[in-house]
Amino acid sequence: MYRSHSCGELNLNHVNQEVTLSGWVQGVRDKGFMIYVDLRDRYGLTQLYFDEEKSSADLMQKAKSLGREFVIQVNGQVVERASKNPNISTGDIELLVKSLEILNEAKLPPFTIEDETDGGDDLRMKYRYLDIRRNPVKNNLIFRHQVTQGVRNYLSNEGFIEVETPYLIKSTPEGARDFVVPSRMNEGQFYALPQSPQTFKQLLMVGGMDKYFQIVKCFRDEDLRADRQPEFTQIDCEMAFVEQEDILNTFEGLTRHLIKEVHGVDTGDFPRMTFDDAMRLYGNDKPDIRFGMQFGELNPVAQHKDFKVFNSAELVVGIAVPGGNAHTRKEIDKLIDWVKRPQVGALGMVYCRCNDDGSFKSSVDKFYDQDDLAQWAQVTGAKPGDLICVLSGETTKVRAQLSALRMELAERLGLRKTNEFAPLWVVDFPLLEWDEDSERYHAMHHPFTSPKPGQIDLLDSDPGAVKANAYDLVLNGNEIGGGSIRIHDKETQAIMLKHLGFSDEEARAQFGFLMDAFEFGAPPHGGIAFGLDRLVSILGGQETIRDFIAFPKNNSGRDVMIDAPAPIDDEQLSELHLKVTLES
Ligand code: AMO
Repeated sequence: MYRSHSCGELNLNHVNQEVTLSGWVQGVRDKGFMIYVDLRDRYGLTQLYFDEEKSSADLMQKAKSLGREFVIQVNGQVVERASKNPNISTGDIELLVKSLEILNEAKLPPFTIEDETDGGDDLRMKYRYLDIRRNPVKNNLIFRHQVTQGVRNYLSNEGFIEVETPYLIKSTPEGARDFVVPSRMNEGQFYALPQSPQTFKQLLMVGGMDKYFQIVKCFRDEDLRADRQPEFTQIDCEMAFVEQEDILNTFEGLTRHLIKEVHGVDTGDFPRMTFDDAMRLYGNDKPDIRFGMQFGELNPVAQHKDFKVFNSAELVVGIAVPGGNAHTRKEIDKLIDWVKRPQVGALGMVYCRCNDDGSFKSSVDKFYDQDDLAQWAQVTGAKPGDLICVLSGETTKVRAQLSALRMELAERLGLRKTNEFAPLWVVDFPLLEWDEDSERYHAMHHPFTSPKPGQIDLLDSDPGAVKANAYDLVLNGNEIGGGSIRIHDKETQAIMLKHLGFSDEEARAQFGFLMDAFEFGAPPHGGIAFGLDRLVSILGGQETIRDFIAFPKNNSGRDVMIDAPAPIDDEQLSELHLKVTLES
């Protein structure tokens, strides 16, 4: 028996008991006649001690030979500590060691394995298994397990069935590039790893499964960010015989349950906002509504004077920064530099100070008088003491720029509180979006999303205006889930694919199986998929999903621990019928 107890469970009730523990040596403090060792496992830390007066010379010698991260087994007697440590669960006791076995020695770890570590990101990724021994990472993984378990229990209780769908499939068009896998048995042909199980879950509805979910890996070859990994996990769900309202209610229930379970907070009914309002009020389809700073559109009160920059702009829009008048001129200049960075891309920023005495002082006083500026304040909701920041230009661009500024300022002002949860449904997304590069419309969600009833005819005359039965769930400014009511008849699906630029043959080749299925009695259906990594990290009060994934990839999509991706040998290449091009 390696252990009778864990390193996290002994307390005063165990005093005088003889116990066996196993774990890793976190640290050794050699006081000569006394040697203290902190022994760690997943459950906690227990202080061991070796006493020259009570232990053999051999045992003392062995204890002295211990190094950090050695794996050991000890047997000994639980003793009440003279000086207790209230910071750990086992802080009232220590273990007087009677026998020690070194189960495995360890090389000196490349960074300290404690809550605060001296290891940089790259090093910790290379030795991720050591990083996982640290509390912050370990606790995140345990937290992920708890949330995942909560999801499984909730959905199972609601009658959902977890069904696994294949990973070796054909491309599903979800907007990113596919990862592909060459087929050995089918020369020149490739599987694609699923970007999501979208078509399969729809086929499960045709198959009569009624309520499906799956906690499933998805693969997308896209540029990586803090909230994006090339392989990530979805809580993928689909329901038959439902309308949008049924889906929103069901998954609002799940999310509310999780927030309540994890944080004890009752979020109440989730507010809903149309996509158009989200863009108008926050410049963003995933607004963080934990704080105000809503956009005020200033065209009517800013385009009546001689200021050419505003007069020539499609949109003049501002936000009131609470208490922002405290900014010095230098700080405001820095803010202007910030919005002019290429990542944000504004050409400049106009500002207006709202003085405590009710007067205004703007950077464009040459053009606007106090009455004009009072109107700006009214439109943006600015109060005395605030600073109004105004950007102008092409609507889509200027909204994105002001949204970036809003989030940056909120971050600086500490308004993005991690212990506050503000969920929001964004609904009525456009069905299609114009893509500048390919100069054609793309499905904003995916090609299986149904237009709103009665809008299908608009597809010919004004495709950009067609709204979809599509919705996103936003939590604290992050898109944690998205879904839609699906098309469930062949004709509508064919019209949709035609508008997305698929010829009949292409549509048949890519989606023939789905169109065929629609001819065998497809029920009305719809669903949603949550990003589990995002959901977990936001519930955990963070926004970097890597910290909640056991073995994540870095920003170049590499696993630096196993060193992947990597070349494969010529034999493997030729077996897969992949040409080997040798450089001469
Ligand atoms: P969507 O593409 O919106 O919808 O994806 C659903 C959710 O998955 C998460 N997500 C990601 N998380 C981490 N890394 C990524 N690269 C990544 N990409 C997406 C987001 C997102 O909201 N099949 C549809 C769902 C449906 O219609 O039911 C789909 O995949 O949190």
